Amino acid sequence: MTTVRDGALPPWRQLLRGALQREGRQVSARWLQLATVASDGTPRVRTLVFRGWSGADQLELYTDVRSNKTTELKYQPQVELCWLLSKARQQYRLRGTTALMTPRDGVVQWRALSPSGRALWGWPQPGQPFDSEASFPPELPEDAPIPEHFLVMQISIQQVELLDLSHHPHQRLRWRLADGWQEQRLNP
Ligand SMILES: Cc1cc2nc3c(=O)[nH]c(=O)nc-3n(C[C@H](O)[C@H](O)[C@H](O)COP(=O)(O)O)c2cc1C
Repeated sequence: MTTVRDGALPPWRQLLRGALQREGRQVSARWLQLATVASDGTPRVRTLVFRGWSGADQLELYTDVRSNKTTELKYQPQVELCWLLSKARQQYRLRGTTALMTPRDGVVQWRALSPSGRALWGWPQPGQPFDSEASFPPELPEDAPIPEHFLVMQISIQQVELLDLSHHPHQRLRWRLADGWQEQRLNP
């Protein structure tokens, strides 16, 4: 049993860091799936880019306020993330609560994006019928004003489950914030 010490990273963060290092420069290592619940109670899932940590157990994702997921998150801020690190043969499932930042609070994140990364927020509303007359800029410069619909999502993690297929038998571990991130081994 391992418990997190004050100021130390939760044990699952250390394992995740090791798995991410094994992926090297593989772009897809930063892709994860975000599952939400729509207002009619049905599930939704899609891929997002992991943007970084804003606390020991808080991670950041970026999206467009105008996308469906924003409406879903206002209805139900509880989410699950699924992150597959294929070289390590590890699946992380993270449960948490999402806080939606205002564009003003996302200035640092906006400026740190690449011009092509920023461009997506210069495109028309996601999910609407395609209009061939609309503008889809390939880049937006660093000094472009931060769009009202640029949204940083901060997800505070409350539970993590790891399934590691590289062991025999497969290793399934669970940590809960409520238990001080104490590790519990489960049947795979
Ligand atoms: C590899 C990959 C990375 C993506 N990264 C993001 C992202 O960081 N933020 C985002 O809002 N959408 C991202 N998308 C698009 C989403 O998967 C999704 O199509 C879009 O956000 C609309 O989702 P919604 O209608 O459920 O809100 C990415 C898609 C792929 C395939």
